[in-house]
Amino acid sequence: MSKLWFNHRMTNSRYESFLQAYPAYPSTYKIDELRGKDFQRLERQQHVYLDYTGGGLYADSQVRQHQRALLDGVFGNPHSSNPSSRASTERIEQTRSRILQFFNASPEEYLVIFSSNASGALKLVGESYPFSTGSTYLLTFDNHNSVNGIREYALAKGATVQYIPLLPPRMRVEEVKLLEFLEQSRAGCNNLFAFPAQSNFSSVQHPLEWIELAHARGWDVLLDAAAFAPTNRLDLSLYKPDFVPISFYKMFGYPTGVGALLARRSVLTKLRRPWFAGGTITVASVTEKKHYLADAPAAFEDGTLDYLNIPAVSTGLNYLDAIGMDLIHTRVICLTGWMLQNLLELKHRNGLPLVKIYGPVDTRARGGAVALNFVDAQGNVLDHRWIEERASQSNISIRTGCFCNPGAGELALEISSSELTSCFTRPDHAQRLTYDEFRLCINNKASGAVRISFGLMSNFEDVEKFLVFASTLMD
Ligand SMILES: Cc1ncc(COP(=O)(O)O)c(C=O)c1O
Repeated sequence: MSKLWFNHRMTNSRYESFLQAYPAYPSTYKIDELRGKDFQRLERQQHVYLDYTGGGLYADSQVRQHQRALLDGVFGNPHSSNPSSRASTERIEQTRSRILQFFNASPEEYLVIFSSNASGALKLVGESYPFSTGSTYLLTFDNHNSVNGIREYALAKGATVQYIPLLPPRMRVEEVKLLEFLEQSRAGCNNLFAFPAQSNFSSVQHPLEWIELAHARGWDVLLDAAAFAPTNRLDLSLYKPDFVPISFYKMFGYPTGVGALLARRSVLTKLRRPWFAGGTITVASVTEKKHYLADAPAAFEDGTLDYLNIPAVSTGLNYLDAIGMDLIHTRVICLTGWMLQNLLELKHRNGLPLVKIYGPVDTRARGGAVALNFVDAQGNVLDHRWIEERASQSNISIRTGCFCNPGAGELALEISSSELTSCFTRPDHAQRLTYDEFRLCINNKASGAVRISFGLMSNFEDVEKFLVFASTLMD
């Protein structure tokens, strides 16, 4: 760390107050050093990046290392046994092992299926899970749409779909309610329980202990770790969900287009793929219209894997490991706490608060995203699209909308079931509904929120710059 930088910080009284409130922050200074070396483009462009839940950022060195490997190697389609093919296969298999090692998952217990993103991994579960009449697909209200979407497969096979509500405004689940739902499973049927380890709307981290509560009652468990994995340690030797979807670009920015389903071998055998494709079979006959699926993971990997990009996942995981997930988590929580505390202090001249926060306002069991709306001095919510526009003018990247998480959005924004029913059952809305029509249905209430999210390279200045921007919205 440069002395100049250090002095600059230490003479700043707000920074001193921050350190007093979050004394663990200096233990993460190594991240500032890396930012200075590997992410200079942020400073060069004066970019305040606050959409890490949307996508992580890659280090220059990650890209250089990957580029070197590409320039040095001869890599061919892995579906052969020639030298170029073997080179690709070797690197893919090394990456699978590296992923298991990163999540502390035993190769006897878990395997890695590559997909194009977390949604692709979720689709594999949805289309193959043996739902039937009598089965239940149980999920919390705050799931991403790619988890919600599995309900279509469940319903098509005659299963029941049930949602566990959350309590706004803090957006947590009452555990007694969860237990009531879990007790209702029908024995002898395949029942699947899905929840996010961290909500991509409220950033609530649900207890991972739920996994064993559900297992003990006969449920299979899908833990959506897409928003959790980038800034939290997920240890699959301690917690053993059956299916874990991940998008790697959320963890370390590069590569995009590669995700994985970490699946427990014992439960994976239940899945029945609805089709076959190149790469997924041992033998397929056209004359006899018969096919034999390969063993997993190949049975679940349709067509040719992204063999040039997959090895870059190891580079990204090495980068995170060299910093340490616990350190990344500590830093993100310090920054989130400071952001929450300061946002809550912003008031209009008449004393009304400037923001309404959806989700926890302390740092307990939460991640590094803050969902909120700005409210004017008369108490009206400011349109999130306008906020994004204004933030963009200040070169601040934030996410707005409902972040593909409609359940959390409906609860947080108090959009009632009757409003939704009357909107969806209108004859002119039978097939098509635009965003503006939807807003009319809910009486022009806020239909979305603003999300600020911290990650790997966030720093104190990012928070301060956002707070300066926020204060321009007062009165
Ligand atoms: C919690 C959660 N699950 C799933 C997804 C889907 O990820 P992807 O769009 O990479 O498939 C996201 C993306 O934001 C997410 O935050």
